[in-house]
Amino acid sequence: MKNLNPAQKTALEDAARQACRYAYAPYSNFPVGAAVLTDSGQIVTGCNVENASLGLSCCAERVALFNAVSQGQQRIVALAIYTPTATPTPPCGACRQVLQEFAAEAVIISLCQSDQRLESSLTSLLPMAFSVNRRQDQKT
Ligand code: THU
Repeated sequence: MKNLNPAQKTALEDAARQACRYAYAPYSNFPVGAAVLTDSGQIVTGCNVENASLGLSCCAERVALFNAVSQGQQRIVALAIYTPTATPTPPCGACRQVLQEFAAEAVIISLCQSDQRLESSLTSLLPMAFSVNRRQDQKT
């Protein structure tokens, strides 16, 4: 887990807050914004996108990650998640597994409306993760 420089961290957190405004969450009323920082310094955002067929809904973290990958950015060094709640929201189990693929070493930051925040690593959120080590840059 690398240390982020303060400017990058602030920009990433702001991007997650902004992304939350685009959340499409009419079924849960639980909007989420996410932003990933790539190893090239790019910030890519996502929000949760729900569907009337509820199981098709996708979390903000995965939307942000897939958005980055679809822009050719596969190495994620940090992820910020914002929810307009009193306490911070850590990524769900499914997102943790997807993070393992592209963000195994990433700093994971959860932010909310209060000053409370969580800052952790994927290793602590997903110990003994399943991985096939297909990616060339992935550590064994
Ligand atoms: N959700 C996220 O976007 N990220 C999380 O980490 C937790 C849950 C979304 C999925 C669904 O649209 C809504 O929040 C309620 O579960």
